[in-house]
Amino acid sequence: LKAEFELAPPLQQIDRTYVLWRGQKLSYFGGCDYFRLSSHPRILARIREGLERYGLSVSASRVTTGNHPLYEELEERIAEYFGFPKAVFVPSGYVANLVVAEALAGQFDTVFIDEKAHPSLQTAVRLLGCPVINFPHLKLKRVRGKRVLIATEGMFGQNGAIAPVRDHLKTGAHVWVDDAHGAGTHEPKPMSGQVIQTITFSKAFGVYGGAILCSADLAGKIISTRIFAGQTPLPLPLAYACLEAMKLLTPGSSLRKRLQNNTRYIGSPSPIIQVVPGTPSLKEDLVRNKIFPSWIRYPGGPAGGYFRFAISSEHTKQQLDLLMSALHKRKDAKAQRR
Ligand SMILES: Cc1ncc(COP(=O)(O)O)c(C=O)c1O
Repeated sequence: LKAEFELAPPLQQIDRTYVLWRGQKLSYFGGCDYFRLSSHPRILARIREGLERYGLSVSASRVTTGNHPLYEELEERIAEYFGFPKAVFVPSGYVANLVVAEALAGQFDTVFIDEKAHPSLQTAVRLLGCPVINFPHLKLKRVRGKRVLIATEGMFGQNGAIAPVRDHLKTGAHVWVDDAHGAGTHEPKPMSGQVIQTITFSKAFGVYGGAILCSADLAGKIISTRIFAGQTPLPLPLAYACLEAMKLLTPGSSLRKRLQNNTRYIGSPSPIIQVVPGTPSLKEDLVRNKIFPSWIRYPGGPAGGYFRFAISSEHTKQQLDLLMSALHKRKDAKAQRR
């Protein structure tokens, strides 16, 4: 048996935007910690405080004896933050997609899914018990059938593209948006009642955990799924830190402005830059510029692998200049494009 994927060599992150690689300190544009909240002093303080206040785990499902009031408070705040009637908090973004699928199984005749949607969404829609049609990335021409669901990422983790959710809604179908990358990165925008949204707290929010944003009716169904009912919720100190992460990323947050400024500085419409190898020397150019060559192979991505760079609010202009010069994009050319 030949395994398709293997673990990457160990990599140690240091100083928030650097890594130690083969004995060298290199700028790090891997991962998706868009605001470096996973090492933010306020997040770390909340985790310590949460541990002191609440202990580690409820060690029970929330449908038995594990429904700590902190989870309910967090769900109210998440629903308020994203402008949805209800939120259900689950242990990860991957689980968020699986519970939605279990809750919605049997309710649709056809699902259309963007071909570049994350493997968790691809896996989840195949549990809905109806035919699944992959459509070309961002280009859904028309949908057929009555009980139709369109599934897509919001901001795509692979290449930073933004899904045309408004166009999807015009078809009259229900729309499921996995916005693991857009949640927190963009200002939250209230969505129509036809939208179900799944998110993660492990990227922009820098903590861990996932959530489903939905109607009260769907939230009730999610709580009765085997996946939700049969598991222990996320440790309490992490749930506590998620509350703090949302406070750091309120509308108008200075962190988000810094991320926008950095993204604009490099002339990119999105904080994610995908480069499918075409330049043989790119890896060497990156290392010469003291940039970690974040080349990845990932389910659903280009088969031969690709470079992905995620800009954060904490990268300096100097780090961005070195990245752009390695990517052969001169700053003056960029200025003309703007
Ligand atoms: C689009 C998308 N959905 C879901 C997930 C899974 O989220 P989590 O890591 O919280 O399980 C990811 C994580 O890589 C993702 O990029």
